[in-house]
Amino acid sequence: MNKPEDIKTKRDVVDHLLSHRSRHPVRENVNASAPANIALCKYWGKRNTELNLPVTDSLSLALGHLGSNISLSMGHKNDSVVLNDRELKPTDPFRVRTLDFLNLFRENQDEFHVVAQNTIPTAAGFASSASGFAALVFALDQLYQWDLDQRSLSILARLGSGSACRSVFEGLVIWHAGTSDDGMDSYAEPLGQQWPELRIGLIILSEEQKYIGSRAAMLRTVETSPLYQAWPDTVERDINEIQDAIADTNFSKVGRIAERNALTMHATMMASDPPIMYWLPDSLRTIKRVWNARDEGLDVFFTMDAGPNVKLLYEAHEQKHVLEYFPELVTTDG
Ligand code: DP6
Repeated sequence: MNKPEDIKTKRDVVDHLLSHRSRHPVRENVNASAPANIALCKYWGKRNTELNLPVTDSLSLALGHLGSNISLSMGHKNDSVVLNDRELKPTDPFRVRTLDFLNLFRENQDEFHVVAQNTIPTAAGFASSASGFAALVFALDQLYQWDLDQRSLSILARLGSGSACRSVFEGLVIWHAGTSDDGMDSYAEPLGQQWPELRIGLIILSEEQKYIGSRAAMLRTVETSPLYQAWPDTVERDINEIQDAIADTNFSKVGRIAERNALTMHATMMASDPPIMYWLPDSLRTIKRVWNARDEGLDVFFTMDAGPNVKLLYEAHEQKHVLEYFPELVTTDG
């Protein structure tokens, strides 16, 4: 077992968590899936870029049946990655990220065959990498029969993509930023409160790849935005208040906090140099429609991530009315 001060790289974390476990695959072929998640209080900025350690806590809601399914097998001649029925070229960024992650775990020359199916648009700000890495960690846990606890699975998923540590769980989830340099206290866990009425619907405005990935955008914001210094206090306040609002099942309050948290994140990145602006004219039009609907008495709020698409937040009993205002809404309740 490594001492905390010896844990500096992803590989160190893997060696630490798997110290007494086998690195020889026990099964030949496994299948796993994980839900996508949308943050109501966002993760934006790292204190450690190697280990994906965040500056702040964040809080999310899982998207039920929308997410990733991964089948993983070994013993092939070459590595291969198939995404949504298409075999990816060696230079494809999704393939590179997936194999970089798998390389943290393999000790012999076994080759991986990965078949990933996303039920959510890939790389258009719909957190497909979060569900993808969480599903990959579940698959590895089965393949090697490690039987890891949920905290360890969450930490391993975080190494693939920060927000993936939240996709290890269903429902409302909090990711504790932690303070230690080795990140062993930076993991997600379920909030412990069920709120089955809470819904997120998707307004898909563009399925194009992001013009700048969230990883690079986050770094640029931390390094250049003069507004970033206000972000940690903002999130701390929002996380505290939203947890109280969730405990009270006060939907309007949850929606208000989620909306202002997303807008503060976007304002902070817009102030970067060069600026980061994910919005399209249609994004702003959609925001205005949400505000108009609210003025007319509909309890609906929005959030946005690293892309132009808009996610609507509402309660299940309002879904019919939300669909009247937003017929293009993609619902996520199955
Ligand atoms: C805007 O988890 O994709 O969706 O850790 O660099 O892989 P990396 O970033 P990623 O960032 C997600 C950012 C966000 C907010 C959130 O999900 O909390």
